[in-house]
Amino acid sequence: MSASIISFISAKGGTGKTTTALNLAVAFAEKGLKTLLFDLDPMGSIGFSLARNDREWEGFVEHILKKVPLEEVIIQTKLDNLYILSRGRMAPVDVCSYERLLFSSKVLSNTLYQLINDYDMILLDTPSGLGMVTTAALDTSGFAVVALQAEPLSLRSVSQTLALLERVQKTKNPNLKLLGLLPTMVDGGNPASKSIYHTIVQSFEGVFEAYTPRSALFLDASEKGVPVSFLGGPRTPEMKRFSMLASEIEARLEELKGTTGVQNEYSQRSLI
Ligand SMILES: Nc1ncnc2c1ncn2[C@@H]1O[C@H](COP(=O)(O)OP(=O)(O)OP(=O)(O)O)[C@@H](O)[C@H]1O
Ligand SMILES: [Mg+2]
Repeated sequence: MSASIISFISAKGGTGKTTTALNLAVAFAEKGLKTLLFDLDPMGSIGFSLARNDREWEGFVEHILKKVPLEEVIIQTKLDNLYILSRGRMAPVDVCSYERLLFSSKVLSNTLYQLINDYDMILLDTPSGLGMVTTAALDTSGFAVVALQAEPLSLRSVSQTLALLERVQKTKNPNLKLLGLLPTMVDGGNPASKSIYHTIVQSFEGVFEAYTPRSALFLDASEKGVPVSFLGGPRTPEMKRFSMLASEIEARLEELKGTTGVQNEYSQRSLI
């Protein structure tokens, strides 16, 4: 087993990176792929999305600063195959040191090196912007997914994101590949959003078909602290979106790696 390491990035904030990484991690796990969702955002977004008391969770910070072994800080979720490495405990005043440490040392690559043979998928949630943490994530990833909200500002900033990718490819990580661009929060009832979606599809190569629609269900899920497919009730199109996206990503990974590299078997799931 050698994990595909995928960073979710965007120059603009609030484009749906964390929502995508979380829900996609669930979809991969449900397909039987052993998946680690790794929260690199100094704001600890994954923890905030899932639990109000996330500050109690130890994580990456404890591993790099206190040398706590990874197996002690990785959280095994109730979903088979889904594991989370949360940010860990960090005071707001320490954000700058954390960013500098990630950017200027090998802590991230050393951590990923310890994990790569234990998982099929490692998804890195990065903060918005093209700063030190995002650059460090790209330096150590095999693949990047650019989250592109279907609104004008996001569209305007995508060239900056692609320029950073190119620079990392040329300088530190020639193995990095753009896996694709993901349109997010596409609002079918809003002409401007629809028009931007069409512009995205026409202007760029590698746009995923399984875009995410704008939907109140995501706010619902966020409020309840669960992935969207864990909301009760009938299975909605929003819930199916991420399993479509997971299949699309698996197919692209196969193409890009020239090997299947992923399991096709579904593991048994437990209800309780
Ligand atoms: N498809 C969607 N429809 C409606 N709301 C959404 C959708 N996707 C995400 N959201 C909401 O938009 C907000 C921003 O999403 P999210 O946190 O995933 O973005 P982000 O790119 O990770 O942000 P940041 O740059 O701050 O890390 C959240 O409140 C989330 O619940
Ligand atoms: Mg986020």
